[in-house]
Amino acid sequence: TIAYLNGEFLPLADAKIPVLDRGFIFGDGIYEVIPVYHGKLFQAQEHLQRLENSLEKINLVNPYARATWLELINTLIAHNQGGSQIIYVQVTRGVAKRQHHFPENTTPTVLMTSSPFTEPNKVTEGYHVITRPDIRWLNCDIKSIALLGNVLLRQEAIANQAKETILIRDGYLTEGAATNVFVVLQGIVFTPPKNNLILPGITRDVLVKVLHDANIPCQETAVSEAQLRTADEIWLTSTSLEVAPITRLDNQIVGTGKVGAVWSTAWDLLQRYKQ
Ligand code: PDD
Repeated sequence: TIAYLNGEFLPLADAKIPVLDRGFIFGDGIYEVIPVYHGKLFQAQEHLQRLENSLEKINLVNPYARATWLELINTLIAHNQGGSQIIYVQVTRGVAKRQHHFPENTTPTVLMTSSPFTEPNKVTEGYHVITRPDIRWLNCDIKSIALLGNVLLRQEAIANQAKETILIRDGYLTEGAATNVFVVLQGIVFTPPKNNLILPGITRDVLVKVLHDANIPCQETAVSEAQLRTADEIWLTSTSLEVAPITRLDNQIVGTGKVGAVWSTAWDLLQRYKQ
């Protein structure tokens, strides 16, 4: 596959970054993951807006104007034969002598890669998840490449034969290790509000919109651990999972133990929106 590194398109295997890159040394950078369906970027403006927000929140000057980002990403898509792909974009504070404070006059490192994307199918069986305390920092709205908390939490899911770890902070649901979470209680869909405790997922926002447009009640309000544990349905959303049904939470059955009716509608609405 072809990658993009600092102004150049080249085979991924030839893309090299100096060991003193602050991304490698400090995790000092941000990233974005954008799906491509049939050669076309999905929610391009929303993803680029979130990229701009992440850069601003870490005081990193945006290396490109939005139109340039779009042009570069579309060129990368074409180099990788269109179709369905996942575009990964990473910007770090660049290469500098190792000292914590920001270097002066350092050029950011910009890396973009493409990987093949197999869109998920509509499943008939739900996934298992576990819950853990949210041990991460208080700036989870930044799409930081420093993901050690998320990595450790997701690994716990894998070690427990589960798909994802759902995180609880101070008695309230935040999100998954790499997903946002929705719950259905008595026909009403709830998802935690956007604040510093969660990543503002693009899939989340699309789902809130399509539910609203379909007159399905959906509230962006805090969800307590008790509500999570008594939910009729639980869903995960992300670029790669789209919207996935959960039927087991910490080895307890969720709702009827089958994929939910509201989830099924939500899945269909999301597929229609993607077209
Ligand atoms: N993860 N929350 C976290 C912590 C995430 O890392 C992600 C995405 C999401 C969902 O966001 P979106 O709908 O925009 O994909 C929520 C990406 C896909 C990743 O790290 O690979």
